[in-house]
Amino acid sequence: MNDSPVSGCQQQVVAIDGPVASGKTAVGRELARRLGWRLFDTGIMYRAATWQAQRRGVHLDEDESVADLIRESAFQLSPQSDSESVDLDVYVDGDNATPYLRKPEVESGVPTVAAIASVRALMVEIQQAQAAQGCMIVVGRDIGTVVLPDAPAKIFLDASEEVRARRRAAEQSSGADEASVLKATQRRDARDRSRTASPLIAAADAIRLDTSRLTLEQAVDAAEAIIRKRIPALASAQSDAVRQG
Ligand code: CDP
Repeated sequence: MNDSPVSGCQQQVVAIDGPVASGKTAVGRELARRLGWRLFDTGIMYRAATWQAQRRGVHLDEDESVADLIRESAFQLSPQSDSESVDLDVYVDGDNATPYLRKPEVESGVPTVAAIASVRALMVEIQQAQAAQGCMIVVGRDIGTVVLPDAPAKIFLDASEEVRARRRAAEQSSGADEASVLKATQRRDARDRSRTASPLIAAADAIRLDTSRLTLEQAVDAAEAIIRKRIPALASAQSDAVRQG
């Protein structure tokens, strides 16, 4: 990635929220590339917390035990070593959790861990400290509402359930069929939307963007236009220089 981000972006963050496979991470990653920023996908933290509980043998339904474990665990975020990457790796107690975060048991366990209020409080604190570095696209479920309520630009991405299930099935190399992916997607969405602690909802001042009929490039163009309107400091000339540089 470009190491000289848009000048002045140290104060800047963009919040992107949305349900499973709405395009948050793909759109966020491409936006980060265009702007010379970093992508902070906060989902990796809830996945890493789930992985930590599973590898330490803590039952995910035991809220207090999970919260105690997470409180005692050291979470660290660091830029991926590949210089082309805009993503962060997450380390737990010194071990890079990134290779394990998409495992099926993590995928199915994560909404349970993400629903524990005291786990969320710990994660949000780390996320706010990370985002304070600026020049960052921050992606999740509660970024515009809880983590960064003052973010200058907030986008809520969505897409129809069928489109999202198709995208997720195509991403999974296991050859999972669309019908079962649709069910799993609906289950995880329902849990994220109905939990008491920071349920998935759009912030009142978020701009909604439905990506069902958009290609990735069109979605990124639309998101970039929203950001430039909301953050006038990002002059287009600067962006073009970064893009070509
Ligand atoms: O990529 P995908 O949308 O499938 O998931 P993710 O962004 O990696 O998030 C995985 C899970 O973590 C979500 O289903 C939520 O339960 C939880 N999560 C959350 O509660 N709050 C966030 N800010 C990010 C993720």
